[in-house]
Amino acid sequence: MKQYNVGIIGATGMVGQRFAILLENHPWFNVKVLAASPRSAGQTYEQAAGSRWKMTVPMPESMKNMILLDATADIEKIAQQVDFCFCAVDMKKDEIKALEEKYAKAECPIVSNNSAHRFTPDVPMVVPEINPDHIEIIKAQRERLGTKRGFIAVKSNCSIQSYVPALHPLRKFGITKVLACTYQAISGAGKNFETWPEMIDNLIPYIGGEEEKSEQEPLKVWGEIKGNEIVKAQSPQITTQCLRVPVSDGHTAAVFVSFENKPSKEEILQLWKDFSGVPQELNLPSAPKQFIHYFEENDRPQAKLDRNLENGMAVSTGRLREDTQYDYKFVCLSHNTLRGAAGGGVLLAELLAAKGYFD
Ligand SMILES: NC(=O)c1ccc[n+]([C@@H]2O[C@H](COP(=O)([O-])OP(=O)(O)OC[C@H]3O[C@@H](n4cnc5c(N)ncnc54)[C@H](OP(=O)(O)O)[C@@H]3O)[C@@H](O)[C@H]2O)c1
Repeated sequence: MKQYNVGIIGATGMVGQRFAILLENHPWFNVKVLAASPRSAGQTYEQAAGSRWKMTVPMPESMKNMILLDATADIEKIAQQVDFCFCAVDMKKDEIKALEEKYAKAECPIVSNNSAHRFTPDVPMVVPEINPDHIEIIKAQRERLGTKRGFIAVKSNCSIQSYVPALHPLRKFGITKVLACTYQAISGAGKNFETWPEMIDNLIPYIGGEEEKSEQEPLKVWGEIKGNEIVKAQSPQITTQCLRVPVSDGHTAAVFVSFENKPSKEEILQLWKDFSGVPQELNLPSAPKQFIHYFEENDRPQAKLDRNLENGMAVSTGRLREDTQYDYKFVCLSHNTLRGAAGGGVLLAELLAAKGYFD
């Protein structure tokens, strides 16, 4: 496979640090540029991020002495050195939208973890096992932006990464309604227990904007390309409640679902077992071998025990049973900063690379 030079925009942040770890020994992608805010620019990665390193493994040796560039002021310079960039920055939505478009217009494709462009109609929001075909909208996006190479592709929010994969293979039974309560880890807020001690022995019943994302994003992922845009699916109806819980990593969801044609429990389990997508077919480096794992034990999946399954890229499910109000209920779990953030971004970039979008 061809080698690609890449940059990480927002390298000093929680998701950026995760990108650095995942890309350290990546077989296709070589990190050439690290960038962050003007506060960090000009410092080495170690100077800027060493004291706020949140990963359990150390900062990659090969990146410690790289000098951080300014993500906004150095766009042209960055675009000249890389084939594409990952982007995960904490800025205002309008600023992120403008920043990502500037990179695309400088002919530097952006694989983004930010939410700013998720509902831009010609920007694909991709879970590679579910809607890999949505990357075909990039042709229309390039026409709008007037670019040859440059484009923006985004991954979806971490909250939907467990229940949308579990529901996807069941769509053929006509999913009518879904209720999902998510129990979300503190790393989803860029925090750990040292930086957020108030979360020890606590639960916060509100995560700003999360319920809207959790209800709307699945409909775009399940949408269809029509002309120059991705048109959202009309169903199912989805309602959610999103809670912050005292867990370091791993978002769990308790899901209730009803169908037009109710499947048997055995049919659901078989579909989960057999669910394999384009990343598995193409044998992409970050693809889990088995996307959905079902646990028979009543006390699984557990965040602490199961979030790292298949390097944190698989989805765990359990407790599938009939419900009195809905047809079925079950529990599912995914690692929010791996599958749900940087790992999902790397897998999307692998799909785009394999399909020639960075050439
Ligand atoms: N944490 C998660 O699990 C998760 C999951 C999915 C998506 N996301 C999204 O990913 C993005 C980053 O999240 P995070 O948790 O990594 O945030 P974070 O830890 O606060 O890091 C923010 C990053 O943005 C950079 N930044 C801030 N202001 C900037 C500016 N004006 N110009 C350029 N860079 C700037 C920071 O650089 P400095 O260090 O120089 O300030 C830092 O590298 C957010 O949009 C978030 O919604 C996060």
